[in-house]
Amino acid sequence: MRRLFVFDTTLRDGEQSLGMTLNVKEKLEIGHQLVKLGVDIIEAGFPASSPGDLESVRTIAREVKGVVIAGLTRAVEKDIDICAEALRQAEYPRIHTGIGVSPIHMEKKLKLTPDQVVERAVAAVKYAKKYVSDVEFFAEDAFRSDPTFLVRVIEQVINAGATVVNIPDTVGYANPWEYGELISFVIKNVKNIDKAIVSVHCHNDLGMATANTLAGIMAGAGQLEGTINGIGERAGNTSLEEVIMAIYTRGVGYGVENKINIREISATSRLVSRITGVTVPDHKAIVGANAFNHASGIHQDGVLKDRETYEIIRPETIGVPQNLISLTARSGRHALQHCLEELGYTVEGARLDDVYQRFLQLADLKKEVFDQDLHVLMGDPESIANNIALQSMSFATNGVEMATATVTLEIEGKMITDTTSGNGPVNALFNTIDLITGNIATLEDYTLKSVTRSSEALGEATVKLRYEDGRLVVGKGFSTDIIEASAKAYINALAK
Ligand code: KIV
Ligand code: ZN
Repeated sequence: MRRLFVFDTTLRDGEQSLGMTLNVKEKLEIGHQLVKLGVDIIEAGFPASSPGDLESVRTIAREVKGVVIAGLTRAVEKDIDICAEALRQAEYPRIHTGIGVSPIHMEKKLKLTPDQVVERAVAAVKYAKKYVSDVEFFAEDAFRSDPTFLVRVIEQVINAGATVVNIPDTVGYANPWEYGELISFVIKNVKNIDKAIVSVHCHNDLGMATANTLAGIMAGAGQLEGTINGIGERAGNTSLEEVIMAIYTRGVGYGVENKINIREISATSRLVSRITGVTVPDHKAIVGANAFNHASGIHQDGVLKDRETYEIIRPETIGVPQNLISLTARSGRHALQHCLEELGYTVEGARLDDVYQRFLQLADLKKEVFDQDLHVLMGDPESIANNIALQSMSFATNGVEMATATVTLEIEGKMITDTTSGNGPVNALFNTIDLITGNIATLEDYTLKSVTRSSEALGEATVKLRYEDGRLVVGKGFSTDIIEASAKAYINALAK
């Protein structure tokens, strides 16, 4: 078996696509979860791109141990200096530097000749080597490059000291057999390839990122790059969970082994979705809400007779538990603690008391509390940011469309009440909250969905607020009352 290294770029290629930056605390939470998941490398960001990214990479390098922490740079000395500084406290630092190698990138974007590109690539790797021994080189847009030129670049950067060579399909243009052929071509023709690990990095523009990555692995790549839930530029990056589960489920064909703890897949997916505000589609492979649901009569009959009739993955293997206890308002602390443990949460003492009280409030409103509800309870934004809290709200309607909202907020211990109107109750509510808090950000997006099924399901509201300096802040709120969920989401964004 060949060792396959797993490189997670959720915090760099994934975050880069969000139109927002995650704060340091959010990135750290994802970083710690990625360690639990067992990835080998965390690409924490692009330190030269902004002071915020620099700070995040620095903090992750200092706090997240036991994995390689990588930072991205262009093939520019200043970027490499900043990246090296950000990685100073990393246990295992890696600089990931590179340059475009396709004709269109060299001519149109970089305005450099192929010889100049080789020179810049070699110089960047040599410069990065002054700081760290582990240097990964990316040949941007490699799939659309001339393979003979690609071989020349890769050979030279390995001579300069690159320990990993990344062959990206930057624009998601490849078919699986072509991408596999390119990786084989590189492995066969780069004379010193035994001195480096070949890495595959695919984008999903034609929906083939997972297939292309698997083809690259079959052709001999030793590292795969991707993101959780496949978030990333345009149509996204390779979904790590899809590749890992394809290898796990169909393992023999690939001949590789990795150290991913697949029981953490479900928890990692939920965390990334909650923090980024990017909802996982219900039908998404592996981590979608319907991935293990059997809806049609024929399928239900089949799985009741033998699960394997229609189930190729046991949901519990990726951490979706099969809960035998139904939680209601009559359930005790112990039952709640047991169900939380099944979901991967360790809750004891005063924290358990607090969660139990909030569980009882929810259970009073619902007949049964489901796993999804418990996840919400554990990640309840109210318990994360409580410098602003909703105390009360009431509404009056005047006519079919206009509504007036009266809202009381507790802001840092002080009660403030105000009233104003709007175009319907949610608009009136947001306008009143703006009035009380003096909010100047604009509402860029507002969505509402139910977390579990049934009419008394928890509603999940997501609010995105855009500030004048370009920052985008995501807030989430949950309640069985959708107006209350909306208020909580708005307040959560403001509190952040
Ligand atoms: O897609 C790509 O080419 C990249 C590189 C910067 C590694 O993300
Ligand atoms: Zn990419």
